[in-house]
Amino acid sequence: MKACFIEDFGGREKLKVADLPRPHAGEGEVLVRIHAAGVNPVDFKIREGWLKDLFPHRFPLILGWDLAGVVEAVGPNAGRFKPGDSVYAYARLPELQKGTYAEYMALPEGRLARKPNRLSMIEAASIPLTALTAYQALEAGRLQRGESVFILGASGGVGTFAVQLAAIRGARVIGLSSAKNSAYIKSLGADAAIDYERGDFIQSAGELLLEGADLVLDCRGGDTLARGMLCVRPGGRVVSIIEIVDAEDLKKRDVRFAYIFVEPNAQQLDHIRELIEGGRFRTHVSHTFSLDEAAKAHEQMETGHTRGKIVLQTA
Ligand SMILES: NC(=O)c1ccc[n+]([C@@H]2O[C@H](COP(=O)([O-])OP(=O)(O)OC[C@H]3O[C@@H](n4cnc5c(N)ncnc54)[C@H](OP(=O)(O)O)[C@@H]3O)[C@@H](O)[C@H]2O)c1
Repeated sequence: MKACFIEDFGGREKLKVADLPRPHAGEGEVLVRIHAAGVNPVDFKIREGWLKDLFPHRFPLILGWDLAGVVEAVGPNAGRFKPGDSVYAYARLPELQKGTYAEYMALPEGRLARKPNRLSMIEAASIPLTALTAYQALEAGRLQRGESVFILGASGGVGTFAVQLAAIRGARVIGLSSAKNSAYIKSLGADAAIDYERGDFIQSAGELLLEGADLVLDCRGGDTLARGMLCVRPGGRVVSIIEIVDAEDLKKRDVRFAYIFVEPNAQQLDHIRELIEGGRFRTHVSHTFSLDEAAKAHEQMETGHTRGKIVLQTA
C-alpha cells in the first residue's frame, strides 16, 4: 500500500511516500481503507523527534492519528463493524509505527466510531483528535451552562471545536485570535473575539469579563497562557492542552489548574456525530493535500496560523 512515513527523525525532507506492506486485521481489529487523514501539529512534532522519549516508536514510522474511511475487513473477535461501514477514528496506538497517512490501517475496533453521514470523508477526517481534545478539555474544566470561558487560540483545529462545544454547553464564549479570524470565531458561536495583535489582551478581556472568566482554555501555552491565567476569576479553572503550570499565583487565588492529553474515546465520537447530524456542530477544512504533498501540509501546519483544519486525501 502507498504510505507516507519517516525512517529517521528530522525536517520535512524526511517524509517519504512509497509502498509498504498492507496490514492485516488481527484479533479484535478492523482493517480500514483510509480515504482521508487529518493533519495535526503533533504530526510534525513526532516527525522532528520531539516526542521520542514519550512514546515507544519503530521505523518505518507512518505518521498520522486521524482517519476517515471504509471498513475493508474485520479480524477474529471483532464484531462491532462489517466490511463497507464508513468510520472515523482518533487512531493513536501505544507504539508509534502504524499511522493514518496511508491507504490502509489495522486498529482495535474500540477506536472506531461510525462516520457522520452528513460529512464527506475529508471533513470527517478533520474531526476526531481535535474535537476530542476540545471535548475532554471542557469536561476537565467542568464548564457549566451560564458560565464564561476564554479560549486562547480559538481559530485553530482545537479552538474551532472548543468554541462550538462551549456554546452548545450554554456558556458565554470569548475567543482569542488575530483580527483576520474574529468573524470566523463569532460564526462558530463565540459571543466576542479578542485580537491578540491589538494591545494587551488582558485589558480587553477585563472589559468583557469584569470579574474574570470562570474557565480559561489554553491552546497556545507560553506567554499567552501566562497572561491568560490573569484573566480567570478567583476560584475559577484553567485547562491547558500545551503545558503544566505550577504557579503560586493560581494557588493564592484558589484557581484549579489541569493539563490534558487527549485520549481515544469512541463514545465521545458517537456524541460528536449526533451533534453533527443534528446540524449543531461543524468543521472547517481550510487546506486539502494529496499524500504526495504531505510535506506541504506540514509546512502549512508549522506556520501555527491555520484556520480550522488540514486534511490529506489518501484515496
Ligand atoms: N494536549 C493535547 O491533547 C493536544 C491535542 C491537540 C493539540 N494540542 C496542541 O495544541 C496546540 C494547538 O493545536 P491546534 O490543532 O489547534 O493548532 P493549529 O490548528 O495550528 O492552531 C493555530 C491557531 O492558533 C492561533 N494563534 C496563533 N498564535 C496565536 C496567539 N498568539 N494567540 C492566540 N491564538 C493564536 C492561530 O490563529 P491566527 O492565525 O489568528 O493567529 C491559528 O488559528 C498545538 O501545539 C498542538 O500540538 C495538544
